[in-house]
Amino acid sequence: MATKISNFIPYGKQTIDEDDISSFIQTLKSDFLTTGSKVNEFEQKIYEKSNTKYCVSVSNGTAALHLSALALLNTGDKVLTTPNSFIATANSILYAKATPIFIDICEDGSIDLNLCEEALKKDKSIKAIFAVSFSGKILDQEKLHYLQTTYGVKILEDNAHTMGVKLTHSDISIFSFHPVKHIATGEGGAIVTNDKALYEKIKMLRNHGQDDKHQMLELGYNYRLSDISCTLGLSQIKKLDNFIEQRQQIAKKYDEAFKDTIIKPLYPYTKTSFYHLYIVTIDFNKLDISRDELFTKMREKNIGLQIHYKPINKQPYYKGLGYGDEETPNMDKYYEECFSLPCFPLLTSDEQEYVIKTLFMILR
Ligand SMILES: Cc1ncc(COP(=O)(O)O)c(C=O)c1O
Repeated sequence: MATKISNFIPYGKQTIDEDDISSFIQTLKSDFLTTGSKVNEFEQKIYEKSNTKYCVSVSNGTAALHLSALALLNTGDKVLTTPNSFIATANSILYAKATPIFIDICEDGSIDLNLCEEALKKDKSIKAIFAVSFSGKILDQEKLHYLQTTYGVKILEDNAHTMGVKLTHSDISIFSFHPVKHIATGEGGAIVTNDKALYEKIKMLRNHGQDDKHQMLELGYNYRLSDISCTLGLSQIKKLDNFIEQRQQIAKKYDEAFKDTIIKPLYPYTKTSFYHLYIVTIDFNKLDISRDELFTKMREKNIGLQIHYKPINKQPYYKGLGYGDEETPNMDKYYEECFSLPCFPLLTSDEQEYVIKTLFMILR
């Protein structure tokens, strides 16, 4: 019989310690709760970490995608993207009045860049690729660069699952600091780039479309991140490498436990994944239990499972726009079989063992 764990174990959650709390309090007592020095300090740490020249912090990852899409795209542009992401990735293309084209995924859950190339060969009017480093596995940088240079497309990397990953050639990379991500600022996000013009434009759009002399030149937004949030971010980013390592340890342990069983890790353990999510697949057709029943039974045992993600192109809103009938056999199969297990730095060894034992007990 598995150990009894009384607290609910979610699939992800933040790690906040006393250092985070005390630096937060210091900022609360300071003169600037927003537009102060903590913003620049946090942005500097982010661009250093991602090996880029520029960073703009914003109020959340969705705002980062929105401003990036406005800076990269024009009305009507066709953009290749993945059905396997949080809805915000594709929504940002719609915000810019551009057109998402959904491409099937590979076995590791990320957009199939070979299929992207086929699409680019067939349609020379495609302008960009919005790709996601899905679950924390770093995208194939060489292939992205090849597509960027061969077909002249803009590349946005949605690195919401890969905080701090180095930008190599892509035009823009974005991060999210939502509590389930690698570092938390409550809500928060950032855009990094090496392109000065993109940086200037995004910075202006973040602040109502105003330049440094408060002249409003474009229709912008208030997407600023406060000093309160940036202070938390500064304290958290110091621990980022540790957080990633802890997630990798958890992933390794799951992989070992599932070796030669019906539970298949989405991809074999790799250091090239930051493991925002630990995802497995099961062929439920071979079992007496459905995935819904498994979720219910695990929840009764205080364990939260999640699906990442329902295909974006099959969301009701997207169906209303005429999407949903694309040929995406890998995505369809993946969606039937996938689920995410608890994976976050504060997950204890005992808790992880409890998750594994409970899973096997229910699937037996
Ligand atoms: C891949 C991806 N992109 C973008 C976002 C949006 O980030 P936020 O929740 O900070 O707006 C998320 C958040 O879940 C995400 O997983």
